[in-house]
Amino acid sequence: MSTAHPPQDRAGTPDAGDGHPDGAAPTRSRVTFRVNGEPADLTVDHRATLLDVLREDLGLTGAKKGCDHGQCGACTVLVDGRRANSCLLLAVAQDGAEVITIEGLAAGDELHPLQQAFLDRDAFQCGYCTSGQLCSAVGMFAEAAAGHPSHVTDPARPAGRGPVELTPAEIRERLSGNLCRCGAYPHIVAAVEDVTR
Ligand code: FES
Ligand code: FES
Repeated sequence: MSTAHPPQDRAGTPDAGDGHPDGAAPTRSRVTFRVNGEPADLTVDHRATLLDVLREDLGLTGAKKGCDHGQCGACTVLVDGRRANSCLLLAVAQDGAEVITIEGLAAGDELHPLQQAFLDRDAFQCGYCTSGQLCSAVGMFAEAAAGHPSHVTDPARPAGRGPVELTPAEIRERLSGNLCRCGAYPHIVAAVEDVTR
């Protein structure tokens, strides 16, 4: 599983008025973060995941719930520029974060080059995994550009020696946390390759 997770050193402000009458700790907190460049200011249940808040509270249903256990990648979004499984992140811990979902990848009517490549390569069938594949691949581009090695990167390659070339083997490994039940993998790899050339 190659999906990275952002630091978890922040939390929202407890809503003092939402505790139990007997003085128990509050169960909801106010959090403020940005989603696709827009501010989001809401009070969330401490148990709510980022995925559920995006879908249920903010109406951003592009990120999909597949397994809800961090195993399929359908819920992948970018948090502070790093890809993350939003089903594993507590929304209350995202105070101050910059979140990008599939709805924020395009620039207005202009698709992100990777979205266009997926169309050109017919890199999906049902499409359920596609938003996660796209967000994960965008995060992967940044990781490779920063020189982060993967499991298949030549271990003899000196660390910090510039970008890692995204060969088909690197793409497959780095996207291995994103499952496609339709088996569109060959076309997904081809689409990602198109953008890296
Ligand atoms: S729904 Fe999050 S990894 Fe499957
Ligand atoms: S296109 Fe159907 S799960 Fe990937």
